[in-house]
Amino acid sequence: MRLAILADIHGNIFALRAVTARLEQLQPDAVIVNGDIINAIPFSDQVVDFLRQTDWIIVRGNHEFYYLDYASGRAPESWHDPERWGQLHWLMKHIRPDQGNYLAALPDDLALFYPDATPVRVTHGTPGHNRRGFSNSMPEDDIAAALSDVPQQTFINAHSHLQIDRIIKERRGEEAGTGNPVYFLEEAQRQNPRVWHIINPGSVGQPLNGDVRAQFAIIESAPSSPIPGGWRVMHHRIPYDRRPALEGYYSSGMLEAGGVISELFYWELVTAEREISNFFLWRRANLPQGAFSIRDEFEAYKRATGRESYIRKRDPLLGGF
Ligand SMILES: [Fe+2]
Repeated sequence: MRLAILADIHGNIFALRAVTARLEQLQPDAVIVNGDIINAIPFSDQVVDFLRQTDWIIVRGNHEFYYLDYASGRAPESWHDPERWGQLHWLMKHIRPDQGNYLAALPDDLALFYPDATPVRVTHGTPGHNRRGFSNSMPEDDIAAALSDVPQQTFINAHSHLQIDRIIKERRGEEAGTGNPVYFLEEAQRQNPRVWHIINPGSVGQPLNGDVRAQFAIIESAPSSPIPGGWRVMHHRIPYDRRPALEGYYSSGMLEAGGVISELFYWELVTAEREISNFFLWRRANLPQGAFSIRDEFEAYKRATGRESYIRKRDPLLGGF
């Protein structure tokens, strides 16, 4: 059994087409898309229409909830601020009602039980927490704690836009310093700490690992291998032309309507680095909370860091590398 795992397409129809062309060569048995199919790059409507005409299995991510929460009125009042949330307001006008109904009915959590393979759990974050992402440097104990309710050994998540292939071992009893073994009532549990195989395919449309190529994974059932959970991972990175995606920010009106957040999404597509969280971290460290508009904060960030010229040097629309 060979599964293609895609995630975090984020409205990037051009990256999705490049990955799809590679999948036609690779011929996986099934394709799983693990959330965040929309938002960030201004072709979400095309991505939704594309996915709906496939037989791929789609899981919902937190960006689908930005749309669904705002559309349904569940979102907090602060989301009406156009300067902070103009990106989402633009998106609301560019997802059709039938597409919204499609997003509304997607599952958040899947367990796959293929007949000739061991079970695989798939969620965008962790079960019940769609904004919980992992990295390759995150401490093993923190990941094990987040997976305590996941019985499947093979666990596929997304959200961090980082390619991950890690074995996570749970520490138990005295080794973990968590208490007296008398509390482990089942002998088997005490003797066999749990082990998970964590797989993140990376992001198709908005990678944040410093590599601008479209990323995904193929996982192959290997039950006789020593890999816990019995699945082998092959990460893929596919070059494609980002210029039409970047031009779309201008031609669609998203960049103008979406303000600072749209500009930061544009930057992330240019650099494949964490432009949004880096800006928010800088803001927290350097500016008093709530004293300035987000636009003024962003201009101060540009002046203080020189980040804009870093972006411009790398922007393919400006001849960047
Ligand atoms: Fe995402």
